[in-house]
Amino acid sequence: MTITALRVALPVAAEDRGYDILIGGGLLARAGAEIETRLGARPCLVITDNNVAGPYIAPLEESLRAAGHRCLPSIIIPAGEESKNFSEFAAMAEEALARKPDRKTLIVALGGGVVGDLAGFLAAVLLRGVDFVQIPTTLLAQVDSAVGGKTGIDSAHGKNLIGAFHQPRLVLADIDTLKTLPPRQLRAGFAEVVKYGVIDRPDFFSWCGEYGPRLVEGDAALLQAAVMESCAAKAEIVAADERESGRRALLNLGHTFGHALEALAGFGGRLYHGEAVATGVALALRFSAEEGLCPPEDAARYEALCENCGLPTKPLASQGDIPALMDFMMGDKKNQDGAITLVLARGIGKAFVAPGIETAKIEAFWRKVTKEKLAS
Ligand code: NAD
Ligand code: GLY
Repeated sequence: MTITALRVALPVAAEDRGYDILIGGGLLARAGAEIETRLGARPCLVITDNNVAGPYIAPLEESLRAAGHRCLPSIIIPAGEESKNFSEFAAMAEEALARKPDRKTLIVALGGGVVGDLAGFLAAVLLRGVDFVQIPTTLLAQVDSAVGGKTGIDSAHGKNLIGAFHQPRLVLADIDTLKTLPPRQLRAGFAEVVKYGVIDRPDFFSWCGEYGPRLVEGDAALLQAAVMESCAAKAEIVAADERESGRRALLNLGHTFGHALEALAGFGGRLYHGEAVATGVALALRFSAEEGLCPPEDAARYEALCENCGLPTKPLASQGDIPALMDFMMGDKKNQDGAITLVLARGIGKAFVAPGIETAKIEAFWRKVTKEKLAS
């Protein structure tokens, strides 16, 4: 499979903080050389989880050593969102320090978004900051979380509330690793792909509608095309607004509703992040339609696409606790002056940031959509 390359161009005058994203098959075996070419031979600390370690850590370390890097003993964390918390982070930091890293040490995040967010946050603060490389192995991480430099952990108060912006030095998205990803995880990752279409790429949304059902079955060429288009979309937005002072908030489409549902589900695998995003985007479109902003047909088109690709669009039957949902929404990072900010849409491809949404309106909306589901 051919390898395609993109670059995240970060507009910083004094130093070049841009980085390459390589996308294709066989990249794990080339990781050592690709890193060496760009960053030189380094002491490498691979961080991964216990699902990814089995098939992928040995080939990665072999490739690193063959290119002249020294491998510190890797760190393997328990898989899943439950690991994205302070105690796991503290344990990981202590384990990393026990390996006597220095400022040249390169952290290599091998895994999904959980590993990437944790390892990236560690890289941001270890010895006051070291370089890191993202080797994403889930569709979600390849199309979204590995690019853009948001790192961090969850809190009892909500998702991703503690963290740092810290850009990777290189992203290697090896499409072959998606072959071992469980189908439900592949589908969940597709939610973040479709999101780019809903934000501002209506033609890509149509592409997702046409090819999505085959893509979620694991078609490698379609997966590569989706990762490429998604990374291009994300790179463009991150280059324009690295620290989310404006346009980058669009990437949060569906996340204010979705994060509340994910937090209420308890971060324990009942609702994957991508599934929460799929539901959140459906709710954002439906809320937009009910406010008279978006044609109801566009909300229906999105729901039909999700249905065809095995993605949820409604809260779980157990998610009727409106005060808890509102409490999570009130803690969202986009909020201003105590009022909820949502990303809404005037139609497919026409997302916009809407600050100052009346709390009562959102409460009434939650009452309506959760009652429908609880009644069904
Ligand atoms: P994940 O990291 O939990 O991975 C999902 C599951 O797949 C895990 O059990 C993992 O062990 C397993 N897995 C990973 N790669 C595999 C492979 N190739 N074969 C077999 N199993 C594999 O979840 P995710 O969906 O990748 O990421 C979700 C996280 O990403 C959330 O915490 C979310 O907040 C975060 N996120 C961050 C950003 C960002 O910009 N930093 C963006 C989107 C999402
Ligand atoms: N996933 C949202 C962002 O990176 O900004």
